[in-house]
Amino acid sequence: MVGVFIVLEGADGSGKSTQVARLAERLRSSGREAVATFEPGATPVGAAVRNVLLERDAHVVPIAEALLMAADRAQHVVEIVRPALARGADVVSDRYVPSSLAYQGGGRGLSLELVDAVNRWATGGLTPDLVIVIDVSERVARARRDAAPDRFERESAEFHARVRDAYRKLAAERAWAVVDGDADVDTVAARVSAVVSERLGIDAS
Ligand code: TYD
Repeated sequence: MVGVFIVLEGADGSGKSTQVARLAERLRSSGREAVATFEPGATPVGAAVRNVLLERDAHVVPIAEALLMAADRAQHVVEIVRPALARGADVVSDRYVPSSLAYQGGGRGLSLELVDAVNRWATGGLTPDLVIVIDVSERVARARRDAAPDRFERESAEFHARVRDAYRKLAAERAWAVVDGDADVDTVAARVSAVVSERLGIDAS
């Protein structure tokens, strides 16, 4: 069986981590092997990079932030994503290159061309079969955000609005699917399954 690479994306508080676990479970129950993973921090080196990136009081300049995300991603692709795909497993990742385009590009204002180029290098050109953006209103995102906010969650409302706008704009340009994430977990999960079935012809209901 050939594995598919599916990426779930969205702003902080979009509920995508729950949806990644749910989608991987549904793929498994339809008889497929599925690996649920995440960025940043899924490998040993990545976990160290994640600590640097999320530490509340760290001063990380935007270019360093983009390069650290890409460094984490390079480890992730080589250690987890490619080996899983190579043995025929599906990979469902909580964030991938689209996060860098939305946060470092949209949020921080770095050139999208450069973020794209660095990430092509970091990933060896590995692109997902499907990107699904879980789109939530600012009200819902705020309510779901952590009680102990990390460096990104402490950013201004304007930063988070730029990230959300970037996701919407990029989704239209790059044929990413957008799912309304304001509903309850089961409803959003059903919407995610419907997109997977429509776009990839895989029954994950
Ligand atoms: P994540 O662990 O997904 O946090 P959450 O579960 O709260 O959404 O990601 C941590 C933060 O890192 C998140 O605020 C988004 C940010 N991020 C980027 O800015 N660029 C990236 O390329 C990635 C992967 C994450």
